[in-house]
Amino acid sequence: MHRPISLSLRLSLLFGVAAVVVFSIFGWFIEDSIERHFVAEDTRELEIVAQVVEQALLSDLATQELASLKRRFDDILVGHHGASLFISDARGQPLYASHGPNLSRLAVDKSARDQGIHSWSDGQHHYRVLIRQLLARTPAGGPSYRIAVAVPIDHHRRFLDGFRHTLWLMIASGIAITSLMGWIAVRQGHAPLRNIVAQIRRISANELNTRLSPQTVPRELTDLALSFNEMLERMEEAFLRLSNFSADIAHELRTPVTSLMTQTQVALSQARSCDEYREVLYSNIEEYERMAQMISEMLFLAQADHGLCISDDRWVDLTDTVENLFDYYEAWADERDVKLISEGQAKIRGDAAMLQRALNNLLANAIRHTPEGGAVHVKLVNTTDARVKIVFENPGKQIASEHLPRLFDRFYRVDPSRQQNGTGLGLAIVKSIILAHGGSIEVSSSPELTRFTITLPAEAIASGNEG
Ligand SMILES: Nc1ncnc2c1ncn2[C@@H]1O[C@H](COP(=O)(O)OP(=O)(O)O)[C@@H](O)[C@H]1O
Ligand SMILES: [Mg+2]
Repeated sequence: MHRPISLSLRLSLLFGVAAVVVFSIFGWFIEDSIERHFVAEDTRELEIVAQVVEQALLSDLATQELASLKRRFDDILVGHHGASLFISDARGQPLYASHGPNLSRLAVDKSARDQGIHSWSDGQHHYRVLIRQLLARTPAGGPSYRIAVAVPIDHHRRFLDGFRHTLWLMIASGIAITSLMGWIAVRQGHAPLRNIVAQIRRISANELNTRLSPQTVPRELTDLALSFNEMLERMEEAFLRLSNFSADIAHELRTPVTSLMTQTQVALSQARSCDEYREVLYSNIEEYERMAQMISEMLFLAQADHGLCISDDRWVDLTDTVENLFDYYEAWADERDVKLISEGQAKIRGDAAMLQRALNNLLANAIRHTPEGGAVHVKLVNTTDARVKIVFENPGKQIASEHLPRLFDRFYRVDPSRQQNGTGLGLAIVKSIILAHGGSIEVSSSPELTRFTITLPAEAIASGNEG
């Protein structure tokens, strides 16, 4: 996957682009208004000259000599520095041409031939030129003229070029400075982020109870802090469970080992008969069996921690499974005068051996906790949403509500003193098997009845997750 560019770079670039856009618009605007100002100034000057020339032509021409008229035009131009004038009659015959550029060429220069203001170049200098057609005023007709007035604009252009140069230089440095400042600002703005990272870095395994304080981070980071805190909480829980688990294992193993040691020491303390030794060994074997069971259960749970794999995924007839379990426990149930009753039928996809192990644990618990003369009910129910419910019900002492949420924890027993009954791992194993099959398990308990309810998808999607 492509790594996205750094936030600082991204923001600095955006700053840069914004600066380019804003400065360019400003620059263009300033340049344009100065140019417009020059045009307006030139136009005003050209208009004044044209007006005076027009007056002279239309009113005085008839009465004056050509020579004095020429002098008059020369005089007009004196007040207007660098201005030049060209007058022709309607047929294009030149009547007057002042010093300066050869304006008669305008007549052939297409781009500057029409009336109005034009910019024009004679090849050496640039001019702004006004062209005007003067029509005779008398109704009987009379001479019409065509005049061209020009003022040089080289100095304007030079000024504009210099100005433009400075302006764009300033704009370029403006962009560079803004981008740099943007970069600094962004780095400053990221300080809280680095802060959080530093805080997180300080948290070690022994300080999982540390929390980030969401009030002290900027609002945008509150969610991050909160989710990080939640993650810490889950990790702390898991960590605690794990460290408790090791402590529990040590504790659970110490009791049988101590009792084995004591028994053996007592047996050895004096000479015994063969029968007596045999008795000690038999009693020891019971302890060994219990320890072996606990170890294999712990192994199973350790595997479950790394994701229980349902290796064998096929249709399992739960009705058969329950029947087999009933057969297996028949003798024990008879002995305790407990009836075993099954209702309903169901099939699901899953691992037959694991499912049997789960149901076995639940059934053993139920029989053990049922008082004499009671009955254990196992109900298989197909729900409408393609799920299967397996319900275990047994009468007996109510499980106090404070125990219910912890019942599926490892080594958790309601009455820890009744140690010989089991390891306290049974329900933890049940839960991990059910979770691996994509199901869930719940327990409820009233003074009359304790009920475990498993819900499994009929076509279990083997999730392989334990959580
Ligand atoms: N059907 C039940 N009726 C009443 N209590 C139960 C039942 N099943 C389990 N429990 C309680 O839950 C605890 C945990 O059960 P489990 O994990 O199977 O451990 P174990 O059976 O080894 O004690 C048991 O110690 C018992 O107190
Ligand atoms: Mg049990």
